[in-house]
Formats: sequence, structure tokens, C-alpha cells
Amino acid sequence: MKGIFISFEGPDGSGKTTQIKLLSSYLEEKGYSVVMTREPGGTAISEKIREIILDPENKEMDGMTEALLYAAARAQHVAQIIKPSLDEGKVVLTDRFMDSSIAYQGYGRHLGDKIRTINEYAVAGTQPDITFFLDISAEEGIKRAEHRNKLDRLEKESLDFHRTVYEGYMELAKIYPGRFVIIDASGSIEDVFEDIKGRFEEYAKDHEEQ
Ligand code: TYD
Repeated sequence: MKGIFISFEGPDGSGKTTQIKLLSSYLEEKGYSVVMTREPGGTAISEKIREIILDPENKEMDGMTEALLYAAARAQHVAQIIKPSLDEGKVVLTDRFMDSSIAYQGYGRHLGDKIRTINEYAVAGTQPDITFFLDISAEEGIKRAEHRNKLDRLEKESLDFHRTVYEGYMELAKIYPGRFVIIDASGSIEDVFEDIKGRFEEYAKDHEEQ
């Protein structure tokens, strides 16, 4: 049986990392075999690419270089981790996937449809079954990220950039109403998780009935 592929998306500072860990523990307790991973990253090669992309020193990086590096990291991640795990029937939870590139590079960097084309090569047909979008405004997200750690190269972008990224996600929600689940991420960690858990259970029920 094929596994379930779940991606977490959202603005910087939306709390994806906390929620993905909670969902991973919950699913493991329920007996699922879970692989938790992240982008850019998830494999040794992709983590090296991540360092290059996020290094605040790399100020001169061209937008297309950035987009191709994210896609390269993703191609390796899909080939080495995501696809084999799904083929073994596992649940794969990833902190960001192709939608991040559409929102950040396609919309944020104004690179448009080229990003979809590049990424179609990278993912080779592997698409999430569910995408949890943690909904928080660009302003609030950046405020939270500033509190948490030193900002990486992307987080240091202007508020306008982050607002355009958010608009990109809203467009994606319209294009993929079937898999895109918008979660209000402004509440407490517990409330947000209850919402995610409920939406997962709904999906699992529908899936079993098929
Ligand atoms: P991430 O590790 O999710 O950062 P955080 O945990 O702080 O949200 O992602 C790193 C940054 O890379 C983040 O600013 C979003 C950006 N990004 C893209 O611009 N395109 C992509 O395809 C991906 C996967 C991430």
C-alpha cells in the first residue's frame, strides 16, 4: 500500500516545526510508521545545499540560482527519502515542499511559472496528499521569527516580499482546494494541533472508506 504524503507550509514563524513534531508523535502512537523531514534539507546533500541558500553572507545570489538550488535539494530529497518511504507505505511529514518554491520564488521573487516547470522535474510526479497551511500574517510571522533566532537570508527579506509570498499561498489554496487545508495558526499550540489532528482524522477516515 502506498503511504500518505503530508506537507506543512506557511510564512516564516508560523509554527510549522512545532506542529509537525506533535503530529509525528501522535501518528507514531497510533501505530503509523512516520518519516519526519524538512526542506530545504532531509538528506546530507540537500542539507549542504540548504547551508548555501540560507547563508546571510550570500547576498549576491541571483533569484534563479536560488530557485534552482531549492529544486536541486528537492530532487535529491524526493529520490532518496520521500518516494522510497511512500513506496514502503510510510507516512511522510515534510516541513515545506514545492508550494514553498511557488510562493517564495514564483511570487516573492516574481519568477512566475518557470518555478512550476523546474519543480515538475524535481518532484517527478510526487505530490502531497494533504498540505497543512499554517495561516498567520506576514507581519506576525516575521515578528515571531525575530524573537526565536537569528534571521536567515530569506527571513531578512522585506515585509513586502513576505506579503507577496503570503498572496502566493492564497492563490495556491484556490488552485488546490482538495489538498490545501488552511489552519488558523494564531491560537495556542494546543488549539492549532487539535485542528490539525481533526483534519488528519477526517482524511484518514475518507481514505479507509475508499
Ligand atoms: P525553513 O527551514 O522552513 O525556515 P523556518 O523554519 O524558519 O520557517 O525554510 C527556510 C527558508 O527557505 C524559509 O524562509 C522559506 C524558504 N524557502 C523558499 O524560499 N523556497 C523553498 O522552496 C523552500 C523549501 C523554502
